Amino acid sequence: MADKPSNAVEDTITPAAEPVTEEMATQVGAEVAAEVATEIAALREQLHHHNYLYHGLDQPRIPDAEYDRLMRRLQVLEAAHPALQRADSPTQRVGSPPLDAFASVAHALPMLSLDNAFDDAEVVEFNQRLQDRLNNDATIEFACEPKLDGVAISLLYQQGSLSLGATRGDGTTGEDITQNIRTIGSVPLKLNGDGIPQYLEVRGEIYLPKAGFAQLNQQQAEAGEKPFVNPRNAAAGSLRQLDSRITAQRPLAMCAHSVGRVSGGQLPGKHSEILAQLAHWGFRINAEMQVVEGISACLDYYRQLVDKRQQLPYEIDGIVYKVNPIDLQQKLGFVSRAPRWAIARKFPAEEALTHVLGIEFQVGRTGAITPVARLQAVFVGGVTVANASLHNEDEIRRLDIRVGDTVVVRRAGDVIPQIVSVVSDRRPTGAKEVEFPRHCPVCQSPVVQIPGEAVQRCS
Ligand code: IVH
Repeated sequence: MADKPSNAVEDTITPAAEPVTEEMATQVGAEVAAEVATEIAALREQLHHHNYLYHGLDQPRIPDAEYDRLMRRLQVLEAAHPALQRADSPTQRVGSPPLDAFASVAHALPMLSLDNAFDDAEVVEFNQRLQDRLNNDATIEFACEPKLDGVAISLLYQQGSLSLGATRGDGTTGEDITQNIRTIGSVPLKLNGDGIPQYLEVRGEIYLPKAGFAQLNQQQAEAGEKPFVNPRNAAAGSLRQLDSRITAQRPLAMCAHSVGRVSGGQLPGKHSEILAQLAHWGFRINAEMQVVEGISACLDYYRQLVDKRQQLPYEIDGIVYKVNPIDLQQKLGFVSRAPRWAIARKFPAEEALTHVLGIEFQVGRTGAITPVARLQAVFVGGVTVANASLHNEDEIRRLDIRVGDTVVVRRAGDVIPQIVSVVSDRRPTGAKEVEFPRHCPVCQSPVVQIPGEAVQRCS
């Protein structure tokens, strides 16, 4: 179906045959306004519903083009009738005029952080602390979830409509980034279904999926801009924009993982059930969440996720274990800035800093000459790394790596360790550039390079 022209609403007024009195005009105006208001409401409802199917359930039911058509029609009507504009309208996703600064927001309940565990023993100790405190050695039910590596967010819904989106800040006071939050497709502007508390604060993580990050960095490169270091920095930078139209262009996503203050309604008695309820209202929750009995099942979950980590479409930096029954959470309470009922089991860091002690050239069986960086041994991605291949002369140039440099080493999953970059502002004076050998280090024959190949070989 073609778009209706923007004056379509006015066209529906039938030309008057008789002289129009003021009273009649007011009457017609009121009818038209009522018709427009009805159409706007119907469009908003349809768009909210399709948004829920697409982002909440991942089950779109109409083609994108039809969604766009509904959206454009709503934009046209709202532009013609600014008095009917609403902050929770689906059109608000495109961004709004820039702000001068973000306002401060005091959190109704502090946004806490999580205690960390770095190995199995620390997770087992966590379970022991829970049992001691509960004075009960019954098996505890846990909800296990990936720990998303993004930016913490608090979303306030009043009467089911998004009224505030705030950053964590220092945990007590954050920043009002509502304009930016509204542009994120997976943040519901209006909740779906019934039983929604009058005041509902949902907390979660805003993140950039791996594919979105790659796409964004490609755009940065094409525009001659500096690439973002990792998806978390890119997500944080995107949310910090005073111009929400920039945020609207970033492929950000949101996943709900907890609730803050709730009043004027009731939530279920288990964390996992609360998440299911949030999903029903239209939030994205993590599909990897599992409810398990006892701490050894928590340790199994960790191993499963370690194996799955590379395949996940988003970055995670660990697992969060949460005591599932809310009554037990309440008995356990909080200590300083973290709840006693939850812990984050961190994955070994995938990146670390170290120093280049030397650069050597290895000659392989086929005569290929490979530069290898000898590194000060560093523990990264769960192993100790002391060498990293630099592949070829082009890579040496690309990194501009020198002996004495501080470098970022990355080891992700089972992938061989890589040097990601040189920390140029830590370069010592006199750091030595490396010359690629023109003669084989083993037999002194000239080194040759086949045109079109990056590798150089002993002749
Ligand atoms: S629950 C009381 N669940 O990790 C703490 N947090 O150190 C409630 N995070 O900035 C948080 N994934 O935003 C929880 N599945 C998850 C999470 C998660 C990431 C973040 C959270 C906070 C930090 C806590």
